[in-house]
Amino acid sequence: MENLIEKAKKIFPGDGHRSFFAPGRINLIGEHIDYNGGYVLPCALDLGTYGVAQAREDDVVSCYSENFPEIGTVNFSLLDLKYRAEDDWANFVKGMCKELGVEQGFNLYVSGNIPNGAGLSSSASLEVLVGVVVNNLFGLGFSALEIVKAAHRAENEFIGVKCGIMDQFIIGMAREESGILLNTSDLEHYFVKIDLGEHILLIGNTNKKRTLASSKYNERREECEKALQILQGRFKINALCDLTSKELPECEALLQDEVLFRRVRHAVTENERTKEAYRALEKGDLREFGALLNASHASLRDDYEVTGHELDSMQELFLKHGALGARMTGAGFGGCAIALVKADAAETMIEKVGPEYQERTGLAADFYLVRVGSGAREL
Ligand code: GLA
Repeated sequence: MENLIEKAKKIFPGDGHRSFFAPGRINLIGEHIDYNGGYVLPCALDLGTYGVAQAREDDVVSCYSENFPEIGTVNFSLLDLKYRAEDDWANFVKGMCKELGVEQGFNLYVSGNIPNGAGLSSSASLEVLVGVVVNNLFGLGFSALEIVKAAHRAENEFIGVKCGIMDQFIIGMAREESGILLNTSDLEHYFVKIDLGEHILLIGNTNKKRTLASSKYNERREECEKALQILQGRFKINALCDLTSKELPECEALLQDEVLFRRVRHAVTENERTKEAYRALEKGDLREFGALLNASHASLRDDYEVTGHELDSMQELFLKHGALGARMTGAGFGGCAIALVKADAAETMIEKVGPEYQERTGLAADFYLVRVGSGAREL
């Protein structure tokens, strides 16, 4: 941190610098159901976005990111908060200033160690970071949950990505060594101690470019909305995850559409798996937890169709080399898979999976041994 403040001072001299951190996240289970009113079970990482911030006397925000030196310093006025493509990552800063009604300017120096485009929520991390920065610098008095909701609105409205609230929620609310079981229909949530005993979570980055991610993501959302409209003619439901798997045969008959039915089946069964996974974790039953991770991946592959050759290969190789369970995490279409592996076998696992994955896909994977971290905060 000392070092980061020194570097920040080279771009933004003077004093009054304060430092902040917001984590990235993985989702353990409960995928593609935070926009279907389901339960999700994400946890924060110890990787994340660091920020050094300093209040200004005018209405200008000036920001610089070590991760995008080619973009240089971006300046904008709080009286003119418009999305501009050339401002790139700084649009996330603008979106948060707009949502939180910030009136006083500040300088912000950013440095993140979440690999970009890996599906580990580097953008939600930046948004929530900015929320905590302005809240603390100017004593705005927002609660953590208000910052989370503002970050979600900024992503949906200012950036234009129609994501659910999971990423911003876990990044803003996480506590040390815990995941969160979040009911996305009413935001009721429980902290879940992640005690994996002799096991750890290994992340495998497929390094597959997620070019289709946003268009396919929106397509899945539309399919779910379409199915919901049809099913609401028969069931009293607000969201697909209000259904139970017992009702699936009737849904199939009503929908008369094989693809829509598979989307619904994923949402309903994934919601049930997530609750079971929570119980398995509480009991310390890692075998059961691992089996649920595998079932989640299969459902995302076969019913929801968001995995693809790279994620499927990574998942299969993790299992082949002894993982207790493995699945894709996040939106899919590339990005990362997670595996539950014996801590003392992780290095060997990486040595075996890496080359075989490259053979199958032509891509070199990256692996991260990460710890569960806590939420966004001033340091
Ligand atoms: C992305 C979105 C989340 C969630 C996941 C899929 O990470 O930002 O809201 O929908 O995909 O579970």
